[in-house]
Amino acid sequence: MSREQLTAQLRIRRSDGTDSGYFVDYNLQYTDGASVLDGLISIRDEQNASLAVRFSCLNANVCKECLMQVNGAVQYACIAKLEPGLTTLEPLPGKRVLRDLVTETVPARERLETAMDEVQP
Ligand code: FES
Repeated sequence: MSREQLTAQLRIRRSDGTDSGYFVDYNLQYTDGASVLDGLISIRDEQNASLAVRFSCLNANVCKECLMQVNGAVQYACIAKLEPGLTTLEPLPGKRVLRDLVTETVPARERLETAMDEVQP
């Protein structure tokens, strides 16, 4: 069997941001040279449109918005290569999860300033 006929299985931690979440497995055809982000976009387009992923530059490694845990290591999803077999994807550790693989990106200082603006008359 050639690598092009193999299946990539992405095990994704999904969450609405209110709990620790749960894993859902998605199978897709492995494509040589595709990135993890390509796989996520494929899942969103073809299997589950509700999957939340953040990215802007799409494989240019400029926006830094696609950071997530890939098999437990923090990586850019647009740089990490899609591999045949199982890959586990989780949101960034130590960040508040907004939904699925999307975490809070506002720096703590800005959040504090916003909160202070809201409580001050
Ligand atoms: S999509 Fe912009 S750095 Fe990955």
